[in-house]
Amino acid sequence: MNQDMALLSILCYPDPRLHTVAKPVAVVDARMQTLVADMLETMYAAKGIGLAATQVDIHERLIVIDVSEERDQALVLINPELVWTSPTTHRNEEGCLSVPGIYDGVERFDAVHVRALDQHGQSRTLQAEALLSVCIQHEMDHLMGKVFVEYLSPLKRNRIKTKMRKAQREDAR
Ligand code: NI
Repeated sequence: MNQDMALLSILCYPDPRLHTVAKPVAVVDARMQTLVADMLETMYAAKGIGLAATQVDIHERLIVIDVSEERDQALVLINPELVWTSPTTHRNEEGCLSVPGIYDGVERFDAVHVRALDQHGQSRTLQAEALLSVCIQHEMDHLMGKVFVEYLSPLKRNRIKTKMRKAQREDAR
């Protein structure tokens, strides 16, 4: 089958739509499978390791992730829920496709267990640590309308907002 995949446009911080809280996916159907394929294509094209539906202005609980070097370990999490978090946390350097060029430290659980549906609608529980764990927490924040820069100080966040708005004005020219 020749799937018509499409690159989706990624919302850029401080776009207010990034603060929308996503609704649960009601049914994993053909529309959802097309969306998954499009989001994966968009994530790979942007050289990202994760993308939440929120970032492409679709406010349903769906994220795609690939933290592998070879970019061949796509992970699809629909209606993800954390069922366990480690007692220990760690500060990691994070970036985001919606905040291009900005990297800063965020405190995250070292490990998480996440229950989600896969792209076939099957429920599974994944045990994640290291980069995958960080990525899952970052993407799940997007579904709650939260961008990683909101963990930073108001001063840093305002500087980032100014920088992003300036870059967007220059892009629009
Ligand atoms: Ni992000």
